[in-house]
Amino acid sequence: MDHRSDALPLISERIDAVTGGLRMRRLRQADWTRRLVRETTLGVDDLIWPIFVREGDGDGEPVPSMPGVFRLSVAGCVEAARQARDLGIPVIALFPYTDPGKRDETGSEALNEGNLVCRASRAIKSAVPEVGILCDVALDPYTSHGHDGVMQGDRILNDESVDMLCRQAVVQAQSGCDIIGPSDMMDGRVACIRGALDSAGLRDTLIMAYSAKYASAFYGPFRDAVGSGVMLRGDKRTYQMDYGNSEEALREAAQDIAEGADMIMVKPGMPYLDIVGRLSRELGVPTFAYQTSGEYSMIMAAAQNGWLDGEKAMLESLGGFKRAGAAGILSYFSPRVAAHLKAR
Ligand code: PBG
Repeated sequence: MDHRSDALPLISERIDAVTGGLRMRRLRQADWTRRLVRETTLGVDDLIWPIFVREGDGDGEPVPSMPGVFRLSVAGCVEAARQARDLGIPVIALFPYTDPGKRDETGSEALNEGNLVCRASRAIKSAVPEVGILCDVALDPYTSHGHDGVMQGDRILNDESVDMLCRQAVVQAQSGCDIIGPSDMMDGRVACIRGALDSAGLRDTLIMAYSAKYASAFYGPFRDAVGSGVMLRGDKRTYQMDYGNSEEALREAAQDIAEGADMIMVKPGMPYLDIVGRLSRELGVPTFAYQTSGEYSMIMAAAQNGWLDGEKAMLESLGGFKRAGAAGILSYFSPRVAAHLKAR
Protein backbone atom coordinates (compact mmCIF):
# COMPACT_ATOMS: atom_id res chain seq x y z
CA MET A 1 0.00 0.00 0.00
CA ASP A 2 1.20 3.48 -0.83
CA HIS A 3 1.73 5.32 2.47
CA ARG A 4 1.20 8.69 0.84
CA SER A 5 -2.22 10.25 0.68
CA ASP A 6 -3.54 13.06 -1.47
CA ALA A 7 -3.07 15.40 1.49
CA LEU A 8 0.73 15.15 1.31
CA PRO A 9 1.37 18.32 -0.73
CA LEU A 10 -0.78 20.27 1.70
CA ILE A 11 1.08 18.75 4.67
CA SER A 12 4.44 19.73 3.21
CA GLU A 13 3.19 23.24 2.62
CA ARG A 14 1.97 23.50 6.22
CA ILE A 15 5.24 22.19 7.62
CA ASP A 16 7.24 24.71 5.60
CA ALA A 17 4.85 27.41 6.77
CA VAL A 18 5.43 26.64 10.47
CA THR A 19 9.17 25.97 10.19
CA GLY A 20 9.86 28.73 7.71
CA GLY A 21 11.62 26.08 5.67
CA LEU A 22 13.95 25.22 8.49
CA ARG A 23 14.22 21.46 8.75
CA MET A 24 16.16 20.63 11.93
CA ARG A 25 16.64 17.05 10.80
CA ARG A 26 19.01 18.21 8.02
CA LEU A 27 21.80 18.32 10.60
CA ARG A 28 21.05 14.80 11.78
CA GLN A 29 20.92 13.04 8.43
CA ALA A 30 24.27 11.26 8.58
CA ASP A 31 26.97 10.28 10.99
CA TRP A 32 29.27 12.94 9.56
CA THR A 33 26.75 15.77 10.00
CA ARG A 34 26.03 14.68 13.54
CA ARG A 35 29.72 14.55 14.39
CA LEU A 36 30.29 17.91 12.72
CA VAL A 37 27.78 19.78 14.88
CA ARG A 38 28.10 17.89 18.15
CA GLU A 39 28.36 20.48 20.93
CA THR A 40 30.10 18.45 23.62
CA THR A 41 32.15 15.27 23.56
CA LEU A 42 33.40 12.93 26.20
CA GLY A 43 37.14 12.33 26.18
CA VAL A 44 39.50 10.23 28.22
CA ASP A 45 40.85 13.40 29.87
CA ASP A 46 37.45 13.83 31.53
CA LEU A 47 37.73 10.66 33.57
CA ILE A 48 38.59 9.97 37.19
CA TRP A 49 38.58 6.31 38.15
CA PRO A 50 37.62 5.39 41.74
CA ILE A 51 39.17 2.13 43.00
CA PHE A 52 38.87 0.19 46.26
CA VAL A 53 41.91 -0.98 48.24
CA ARG A 54 42.03 -3.90 50.64
CA GLU A 55 44.62 -5.66 52.82
CA GLY A 56 46.50 -8.73 51.63
CA ASP A 57 47.68 -10.04 48.29
CA GLY A 58 46.16 -11.91 45.43
CA ASP A 59 43.30 -11.31 43.06
CA GLY A 60 40.66 -8.64 43.32
CA GLU A 61 37.73 -9.45 45.56
CA PRO A 62 34.37 -8.80 43.85
CA VAL A 63 32.01 -6.23 45.36
CA PRO A 64 28.67 -8.07 45.11
CA SER A 65 26.51 -4.96 44.68
CA MET A 66 28.86 -3.51 42.02
CA PRO A 67 29.24 -6.03 39.18
CA GLY A 68 32.65 -5.67 37.54
CA VAL A 69 34.17 -3.78 40.49
CA PHE A 70 36.77 -5.37 42.78
CA ARG A 71 38.59 -4.53 45.98
CA LEU A 72 42.26 -4.61 45.02
CA SER A 73 45.42 -5.35 46.96
CA VAL A 74 48.05 -2.60 47.09
CA ALA A 75 49.88 -4.37 44.26
CA GLY A 76 46.56 -4.56 42.38
CA CYS A 77 46.16 -0.79 42.78
CA VAL A 78 49.58 -0.23 41.23
CA GLU A 79 48.48 -2.45 38.35
CA ALA A 80 45.28 -0.39 38.01
CA ALA A 81 47.35 2.80 37.96
CA ARG A 82 49.45 1.36 35.12
CA GLN A 83 46.25 0.53 33.29
CA ALA A 84 45.02 4.10 33.87
CA ARG A 85 48.27 5.50 32.48
CA ASP A 86 48.16 3.24 29.42
CA LEU A 87 44.55 4.19 28.74
CA GLY A 88 45.23 7.91 29.32
CA ILE A 89 43.03 8.31 32.40
CA PRO A 90 44.49 11.31 34.28
CA VAL A 91 43.49 10.50 37.86
CA ILE A 92 42.57 7.57 40.06
CA ALA A 93 40.70 7.93 43.35
CA LEU A 94 41.50 5.61 46.25
CA PHE A 95 39.01 4.28 48.79
CA PRO A 96 39.94 1.78 51.53
CA TYR A 97 38.12 -1.23 52.87
CA THR A 98 39.26 -1.10 56.48
CA ASP A 99 39.13 -4.24 58.62
CA PRO A 100 36.43 -3.80 61.29
CA GLY A 101 39.09 -4.46 63.95
CA LYS A 102 40.90 -1.26 62.92
CA ARG A 103 37.81 0.95 63.19
CA ASP A 104 37.11 2.97 66.30
CA GLU A 105 34.92 5.80 67.58
CA THR A 106 37.18 8.61 66.31
CA GLY A 107 38.47 6.95 63.12
CA SER A 108 42.07 7.12 64.35
CA GLU A 109 43.28 4.76 61.61
CA ALA A 110 42.75 7.71 59.23
CA LEU A 111 45.84 9.32 60.77
CA ASN A 112 48.07 6.26 60.43
CA GLU A 113 50.62 6.84 57.69
CA GLY A 114 50.78 3.06 57.39
CA ASN A 115 47.07 2.76 56.56
CA LEU A 116 45.90 1.24 53.29
CA VAL A 117 45.31 4.45 51.38
CA CYS A 118 48.70 5.86 52.35
CA ARG A 119 50.51 2.64 51.44
CA ALA A 120 48.70 2.43 48.13
CA SER A 121 49.49 6.11 47.38
CA ARG A 122 53.19 5.63 48.06
CA ALA A 123 53.31 2.46 45.95
CA ILE A 124 51.49 4.12 43.04
CA LYS A 125 53.58 7.30 43.21
CA SER A 126 56.83 5.40 43.04
CA ALA A 127 55.73 3.03 40.24
CA VAL A 128 53.46 5.26 38.12
CA PRO A 129 54.20 8.89 39.02
CA GLU A 130 52.43 10.26 35.93
CA VAL A 131 48.97 9.34 37.21
CA GLY A 132 47.28 11.75 39.63
CA ILE A 133 45.96 10.41 42.94
CA LEU A 134 42.79 11.69 44.58
CA CYS A 135 42.00 10.72 48.18
CA ASP A 136 38.80 11.26 50.09
CA VAL A 137 39.04 13.14 53.33
CA ALA A 138 36.32 11.81 55.63
CA LEU A 139 36.34 9.38 58.52
CA ASP A 140 33.65 6.90 57.45
CA PRO A 141 36.00 4.15 56.26
CA TYR A 142 37.64 4.25 59.70
CA THR A 143 34.88 4.83 62.25
CA SER A 144 33.02 2.10 64.14
CA HIS A 145 29.75 4.01 63.59
CA GLY A 146 30.27 4.62 59.84
CA HIS A 147 29.93 8.41 60.04
CA ASP A 148 32.23 10.87 58.31
CA GLY A 149 33.05 12.72 61.51
CA VAL A 150 33.56 12.33 65.23
CA MET A 151 30.41 11.39 67.13
CA GLN A 152 29.17 12.29 70.58
CA GLY A 153 25.95 10.54 71.52
CA ASP A 154 24.03 10.78 68.29
CA ARG A 155 25.60 14.10 67.17
CA ILE A 156 28.42 14.56 64.70
CA LEU A 157 30.77 17.19 66.13
CA ASN A 158 31.83 19.73 63.52
CA ASP A 159 35.03 21.30 64.83
CA GLU A 160 36.42 18.14 66.41
CA SER A 161 35.85 16.39 63.08
CA VAL A 162 37.62 19.15 61.14
CA ASP A 163 40.62 18.80 63.45
CA MET A 164 40.85 15.09 62.52
CA LEU A 165 40.25 15.79 58.82
CA CYS A 166 43.10 18.31 58.65
CA ARG A 167 45.52 15.77 60.06
CA GLN A 168 44.16 13.08 57.74
CA ALA A 169 44.70 15.38 54.75
CA VAL A 170 48.32 16.11 55.69
CA VAL A 171 49.14 12.42 56.23
CA GLN A 172 47.60 11.55 52.86
CA ALA A 173 49.34 14.35 50.99
CA GLN A 174 52.67 13.37 52.56
CA SER A 175 52.08 9.83 51.28
CA GLY A 176 51.75 11.02 47.69
CA CYS A 177 48.12 12.03 47.29
CA ASP A 178 47.91 14.90 44.76
CA ILE A 179 44.30 15.93 45.25
CA ILE A 180 42.57 16.06 48.61
CA GLY A 181 38.82 15.48 48.30
CA PRO A 182 36.99 16.55 51.45
CA SER A 183 33.77 14.52 51.27
CA ASP A 184 32.68 15.03 54.87
CA MET A 185 30.49 18.15 54.51
CA MET A 186 31.67 19.68 57.80
CA ASP A 187 31.59 23.49 57.95
CA GLY A 188 34.87 25.33 57.44
CA ARG A 189 36.86 22.25 56.54
CA VAL A 190 38.28 23.51 53.25
CA ALA A 191 39.92 26.57 54.83
CA CYS A 192 41.31 24.52 57.71
CA ILE A 193 42.64 21.78 55.41
CA ARG A 194 44.23 24.38 53.12
CA GLY A 195 45.88 25.96 56.14
CA ALA A 196 47.12 22.62 57.47
CA LEU A 197 48.54 21.63 54.07
CA ASP A 198 50.28 24.96 53.64
CA SER A 199 51.75 24.84 57.15
CA ALA A 200 53.16 21.41 56.31
CA GLY A 201 54.78 22.85 53.16
CA LEU A 202 52.27 21.11 50.87
CA ARG A 203 51.30 24.16 48.82
CA ASP A 204 50.97 22.23 45.55
CA THR A 205 48.45 19.75 46.88
CA LEU A 206 45.11 20.42 45.22
CA ILE A 207 41.70 20.46 46.86
CA MET A 208 38.63 19.13 45.06
CA ALA A 209 35.79 19.89 47.45
CA TYR A 210 32.73 17.71 47.54
CA SER A 211 30.76 20.95 47.75
CA ALA A 212 27.25 19.86 46.96
CA LYS A 213 27.08 16.41 48.44
CA TYR A 214 23.55 15.24 49.07
CA ALA A 215 22.30 12.71 51.62
CA SER A 216 21.52 10.02 49.10
CA ALA A 217 20.34 6.46 48.64
CA PHE A 218 22.73 6.15 45.70
CA TYR A 219 25.77 5.57 47.96
CA GLY A 220 24.53 2.14 49.09
CA PRO A 221 26.87 -0.08 47.03
CA PHE A 222 29.88 2.12 47.88
CA ARG A 223 29.18 1.62 51.57
CA ASP A 224 29.20 -2.15 50.93
CA ALA A 225 32.51 -1.79 49.10
CA VAL A 226 34.26 0.07 51.94
CA GLY A 227 32.44 -1.89 54.65
CA SER A 228 30.76 1.11 56.29
CA GLY A 229 27.19 0.19 55.33
CA VAL A 230 26.76 -2.43 58.02
CA MET A 231 28.37 -0.07 60.53
CA LEU A 232 26.31 3.01 59.80
CA ARG A 233 24.26 4.20 62.75
CA GLY A 234 21.36 6.35 61.57
CA ASP A 235 21.83 8.49 58.46
CA LYS A 236 23.93 11.44 57.29
CA ARG A 237 21.24 14.09 56.98
CA THR A 238 22.70 16.41 59.63
CA TYR A 239 25.72 17.09 57.41
CA GLN A 240 24.97 15.98 53.83
CA MET A 241 22.53 18.17 51.91
CA ASP A 242 18.77 17.84 51.48
CA TYR A 243 17.95 16.82 47.91
CA GLY A 244 15.24 19.45 47.66
CA ASN A 245 17.81 22.25 47.65
CA SER A 246 19.55 24.09 44.83
CA GLU A 247 20.21 27.59 46.27
CA GLU A 248 22.01 25.94 49.14
CA ALA A 249 24.31 24.11 46.70
CA LEU A 250 25.34 27.46 45.28
CA ARG A 251 26.09 28.82 48.76
CA GLU A 252 28.03 25.70 49.77
CA ALA A 253 30.14 25.79 46.61
CA ALA A 254 30.79 29.55 46.76
CA GLN A 255 31.87 29.12 50.36
CA ASP A 256 34.28 26.28 49.48
CA ILE A 257 35.79 28.38 46.70
CA ALA A 258 36.22 31.32 49.07
CA GLU A 259 37.92 28.94 51.51
CA GLY A 260 40.44 27.86 48.87
CA ALA A 261 38.99 24.94 46.90
CA ASP A 262 40.67 24.56 43.49
CA MET A 263 37.84 22.47 42.10
CA ILE A 264 34.33 21.63 43.23
CA MET A 265 32.19 18.53 42.91
CA VAL A 266 28.53 17.59 42.82
CA LYS A 267 27.40 14.23 44.12
CA PRO A 268 25.44 12.12 43.20
CA GLY A 269 25.54 12.83 39.49
CA MET A 270 22.65 11.82 37.29
CA PRO A 271 19.74 13.01 39.48
CA TYR A 272 21.65 16.28 40.07
CA LEU A 273 22.60 17.44 36.57
CA ASP A 274 20.74 20.69 37.21
CA ILE A 275 23.16 21.38 40.06
CA VAL A 276 26.17 20.48 37.92
CA GLY A 277 24.95 22.86 35.22
CA ARG A 278 24.15 25.64 37.63
CA LEU A 279 27.40 25.56 39.59
CA SER A 280 29.60 25.28 36.53
CA ARG A 281 27.85 28.20 34.81
CA GLU A 282 27.46 30.49 37.79
CA LEU A 283 30.78 29.93 39.54
CA GLY A 284 33.19 29.34 36.66
CA VAL A 285 35.36 26.94 38.67
CA PRO A 286 36.18 23.44 37.34
CA THR A 287 33.13 21.48 38.42
CA PHE A 288 33.17 17.70 38.65
CA ALA A 289 30.35 15.22 38.94
CA TYR A 290 30.46 11.92 40.80
CA GLN A 291 28.55 9.16 39.06
CA THR A 292 28.02 7.23 42.28
CA SER A 293 28.06 3.53 43.00
CA GLY A 294 24.25 3.34 42.92
CA GLU A 295 24.11 4.94 39.48
CA TYR A 296 26.76 2.53 38.22
CA SER A 297 24.98 -0.50 39.68
CA MET A 298 21.59 0.52 38.25
CA ILE A 299 23.00 0.57 34.74
CA MET A 300 24.94 -2.66 35.27
CA ALA A 301 21.95 -4.49 36.75
CA ALA A 302 19.65 -3.46 33.93
CA ALA A 303 22.28 -4.40 31.35
CA GLN A 304 22.82 -7.81 32.96
CA ASN A 305 19.10 -8.44 32.77
CA GLY A 306 19.09 -7.53 29.11
CA TRP A 307 16.82 -4.57 29.83
CA LEU A 308 19.09 -2.01 28.21
CA ASP A 309 22.26 -1.83 26.19
CA GLY A 310 24.88 -1.33 28.92
CA GLU A 311 27.60 0.03 26.65
CA LYS A 312 25.33 2.68 25.14
CA ALA A 313 23.77 3.60 28.48
CA MET A 314 27.25 4.02 29.95
CA LEU A 315 28.38 6.38 27.19
CA GLU A 316 25.12 8.34 27.19
CA SER A 317 25.16 8.78 30.97
CA LEU A 318 28.70 10.15 30.88
CA GLY A 319 27.99 12.31 27.84
CA GLY A 320 25.14 13.88 29.79
CA PHE A 321 27.57 15.10 32.44
CA LYS A 322 29.68 16.86 29.80
CA ARG A 323 26.63 18.47 28.25
CA ALA A 324 25.55 19.69 31.71
CA GLY A 325 28.91 21.46 32.06
CA ALA A 326 31.07 19.06 34.05
CA ALA A 327 34.83 19.48 33.65
CA GLY A 328 35.15 15.79 34.44
CA ILE A 329 33.44 12.80 35.97
CA LEU A 330 34.31 10.31 38.69
CA SER A 331 32.99 7.03 37.35
CA TYR A 332 33.45 3.33 37.98
CA PHE A 333 33.01 2.95 34.21
CA SER A 334 36.22 4.92 33.57
CA PRO A 335 38.47 2.07 32.36
CA ARG A 336 35.72 0.65 30.16
CA VAL A 337 34.92 4.05 28.67
CA ALA A 338 38.59 4.81 28.12
CA ALA A 339 39.09 1.48 26.35
CA HIS A 340 36.04 2.19 24.20
CA LEU A 341 37.27 5.68 23.27
CA LYS A 342 40.71 4.32 22.45
CA ALA A 343 39.32 1.61 20.18
CA ARG A 344 37.24 4.06 18.12
C1 PBG B 1 32.49 8.97 52.06
C2 PBG B 1 32.08 8.84 50.64
C3 PBG B 1 30.90 8.28 50.15
C4 PBG B 1 31.05 8.24 48.77
C5 PBG B 1 32.27 8.83 48.45
N1 PBG B 1 32.88 9.20 49.63
C6 PBG B 1 29.73 7.68 50.82
C7 PBG B 1 29.00 8.45 51.85
O1 PBG B 1 29.12 9.66 51.99
O2 PBG B 1 28.26 7.79 52.59
C8 PBG B 1 30.04 7.66 47.81
C9 PBG B 1 30.60 7.19 46.51
C10 PBG B 1 29.70 6.32 45.72
O3 PBG B 1 28.55 6.02 46.08
O4 PBG B 1 30.15 5.88 44.66
N2 PBG B 1 32.25 10.16 52.67
